[in-house]
Amino acid sequence: MSLRGEEDPLWYKDAIVYEVPVKSFFDANNDGIGDFSGLIEKLDYLHGLGVTCLWLLPCFPSPLKDDGYDISNYTDVHPSYGTIDDFKRLLAAAHERDLKVLIELVVNHTSDQHQWFQAARVAPAGSSARNFYVWSETDQKYQDARIIFIDTEQSNWAWDPVAKAYYWHRFFNHQPDLNYDNPEVLEQILHVMDFWLEMGVDGFRLDAVPYLIEREDTNCENLPETHIILKAIRRHIDTHWPNRMLLAEANQWPADVRPYFGDGDECHMAFHFPVMPRLFMALHLEERDPIVEIMERTPSIPETCQWALFLRNHDELTLEMVTDEERDYMYLAYSADPTARLNVGIRRRLAPLMNNSRHRIELLTSVLFSLPGTPIIYYGDEIGMGDDMHLGDRNGVRTPMQWSGDRNAGFSRADPQQLFSPVISDPVYGYQAVNVESEEHDPASLLHWTRNMIRLRRLFRVFGRGTIDFLQPANRAVLAYVRRHEEDDTILCVANLARNVQPVHLDLGEFAGLVPVEILGYTEFPVIGVEPYFLTLGPYGFYWFELQHRRR
Ligand code: NOJ
Ligand code: CA
Repeated sequence: MSLRGEEDPLWYKDAIVYEVPVKSFFDANNDGIGDFSGLIEKLDYLHGLGVTCLWLLPCFPSPLKDDGYDISNYTDVHPSYGTIDDFKRLLAAAHERDLKVLIELVVNHTSDQHQWFQAARVAPAGSSARNFYVWSETDQKYQDARIIFIDTEQSNWAWDPVAKAYYWHRFFNHQPDLNYDNPEVLEQILHVMDFWLEMGVDGFRLDAVPYLIEREDTNCENLPETHIILKAIRRHIDTHWPNRMLLAEANQWPADVRPYFGDGDECHMAFHFPVMPRLFMALHLEERDPIVEIMERTPSIPETCQWALFLRNHDELTLEMVTDEERDYMYLAYSADPTARLNVGIRRRLAPLMNNSRHRIELLTSVLFSLPGTPIIYYGDEIGMGDDMHLGDRNGVRTPMQWSGDRNAGFSRADPQQLFSPVISDPVYGYQAVNVESEEHDPASLLHWTRNMIRLRRLFRVFGRGTIDFLQPANRAVLAYVRRHEEDDTILCVANLARNVQPVHLDLGEFAGLVPVEILGYTEFPVIGVEPYFLTLGPYGFYWFELQHRRR
C-alpha cells in the first residue's frame, strides 16, 4: 500500500471512477457468479482503461433481495464473492496499480436478517437493542414522507409479528431503517467504518444519506439532525483516517444536496443527481437550456469538495429531481416502451438510451468528462453494452460483463443455466456483437475512443478542479463553456446537441490573442480576435480547445 501521508488529500478531485458490481464482472472459479479473484484478474484491463478509482457495489453477506443493499453483516463479505483474504488481495492488487477502492456503506438501513434486527424484535420495548430500529404502534406516523420504491411498497411502515409493532423502512420492507436517535447505532457504524478503513479501503459511498432521521411534520429528508450525524462520521474519519473520502448519495435538488458538503466538514463528494437527466433532456430537445439552468442553480461548494457526475449507474435513470413536465417529456423521449419504466425512472443502459448512436454516446461522454466534477463510468458502458428490461427490478442493467464472443460472453465457464443472470444476447447488443475482445482489435471501437478520452482528460487538471463559465451563443443547440484553473489553464468546450450541422458565433473577446488548440488532434485553430469567433460543428460534434498563448 502506498504511504498515505504523502498522498494528495484531494486525490478524488482528479479521479475517474469506475462503478463495478463484483458479481457481474468476472467469474474466476466458474460457479456462475463474479468474484474478487475475477476482478483481480481484470484489474489490468481497468488500469489500461485509465480509470483511477473503483467503486465496488455491496459485497457484504446479504439475502440479496436488493442486490446486497440489504446487508446482514457489515464486517464480512458474501461467500459467493470470496473471503476477506480475497478482498484484501483485491485491495493490494488495486493499490499496486494506483487504483483507489471505494466500497458501499449502507448507513440508512440493514437487511431484516441482520442480527441487530433479529435482536431488536425480541428485545423489550424501550430498550436500546429494540431501539436500533424505528418502531411504532401505529402506521400513521411520519405521513409526510414519500414512498421511494413506489412500484413495490405501499407504506414506509411494516408490521412485525414478533415485536408486535410497526417498523420504519424507506426502501423495501425487508430493509428496516436504523434509528440514529439511538447513539449506539452511530457507535456501531463507526466500528464498521474502522474495520474497512483499517484494511485499506479509500472511501465509502454513503447510501441513502438523506433519510437517517425521522421527525413528525417533515418529509423526513435532509433534517438538521441527519447533518449532525454526518459531521460526526466525518470528524471520525479526519481524526483517524487521513486522505480517505466520503461520497454522499443524496438524490435531491442542488440546494438540498449542498448541505451534505457542510463547511467542508461533512462529505467530500456528492452525486449531482439533477444534472444527469437534464443531459439526456438537452440532447433530445437539441438545446442547451436544461443543462445551463441546472448548473447555474448549483450552489458553489467548499474548496475541498467535489461533485460526482454520472450518466448511468446500477439503478433506474432516476427522474425524481425533475419537474412533472420534464418527467413526462423524459418518459416519452426515452421509454416509449413502458416496460423500461421502474419506480420514478427508466431502467436502461446508456447505449440503448442513445439508440446505439456512437455520436450521441460520445457527445454525452464528452460533456460528462468536461463539466466540473469527477466522472463515474458504469461498467460496460465503455464498450456500449445493452440491457434486458425483461429481467425484473434493475437486473437488466446488471448483466455479466461482455469480455468476448465465447460462451457466457467470456464472463464465466459455468453451465449457462448456472449464471447469476443471463448474458445479453440480442443481435444488436449481444455479447457476440459487443465485447471487449473484439473492441480491443478494432481501433475505431468505442472502447478505444473511451480510453483515449480518459487519457486526454487526465492530462488536464482543469477538468477536475477548475471553474466553469457558460457562454450564451445565439444558437441554442450549442453548449459552450470555459473551464479555468490557475493562471494559464483554460479550456473551451463546445458541443453541438443537434443531429444536424450547426454554426455558432462565440463571444471570446476576453481571450483575444489566444490560440485555440483542439486537444484531440492537437490542431491549431485561427487566433481569437475581438470579433465573435465562428465555428461549425458536425452532427453531435464537440471540441475541447486549450486556449494557448501564441508561440513566439
Ligand atoms: C440506493 C442504491 O443505489 C439502490 O440500488 C438501493 O436499492 C437503495 N439505495 C436502497 O439501498
Ligand atoms: Ca465465482
